Amino acid sequence: MADINFNSFPILTSERLTLRQLSLTDQQDIFSLRSDKEINQYLDRKPAETIEDAISFINVINENIKNNNSVYWVITLTETREFVGTICLFDFSNDKNSVEIGYELITRFQGQGIMTEAIERVIDYAFTTLKVQKILAYTHHRNQHSTKLLAKFNFILSNKTDQQNSDFNIFTLAYTENK
Ligand SMILES: CC(C)(COP(=O)(O)OP(=O)(O)OC[C@H]1O[C@@H](n2cnc3c(N)ncnc32)[C@H](O)[C@@H]1OP(=O)(O)O)[C@@H](O)C(=O)NCCC(=O)NCCS
Repeated sequence: MADINFNSFPILTSERLTLRQLSLTDQQDIFSLRSDKEINQYLDRKPAETIEDAISFINVINENIKNNNSVYWVITLTETREFVGTICLFDFSNDKNSVEIGYELITRFQGQGIMTEAIERVIDYAFTTLKVQKILAYTHHRNQHSTKLLAKFNFILSNKTDQQNSDFNIFTLAYTENK
């Protein structure tokens, strides 16, 4: 059984990055990210239309963290503290053995290996700290960048399709001892 508790927020670090908790001071960056047509292209979500949408999103996210329902990090460059994207683990199974991963980068920070670095750290956290057995990723079948990222970490394309949207492929990564 996985050990899920985010009450002491898990700040994660890697060579270039600090993954920290979201706060209301991030409202402008969250608005930019969630209203960006290019970023939203392959995501099945309602785009942010106003800054109030971003504020209520931040409040919902932090409430979910408080209730140990999900965990959501702002990805920042450690050197400059710039907000470059987000990554999250959500929709834990009832037995807490599997969880879904989601991620996005501001367009100008794509193509630099930032998500590769962030996802590696989050996968390790999910398997070694949360002790989940399986990570799922739902990604649009035309989302080449996301598919390439998942392939890099040996996610496997499932033969099941997303019941709610058949454009989405489901990828899974199972825990093995040598991860
Ligand atoms: C999915 C997404 C995060 C992938 O971003 P990305 O920039 O392609 O991924 P990375 O940050 O890992 O960067 C990898 C790229 O940087 C290059 N790169 C440059 N420097 C690098 C470094 N030091 N280390 C690793 N890769 C590096 C790689 O070669 C690769 O480029 P390529 O795809 O042309 O080969 C991004 O496309 C995105 O935010 N999309 C919108 C949101 C979205 O669709 N999310 C998916 C939800 S399921």
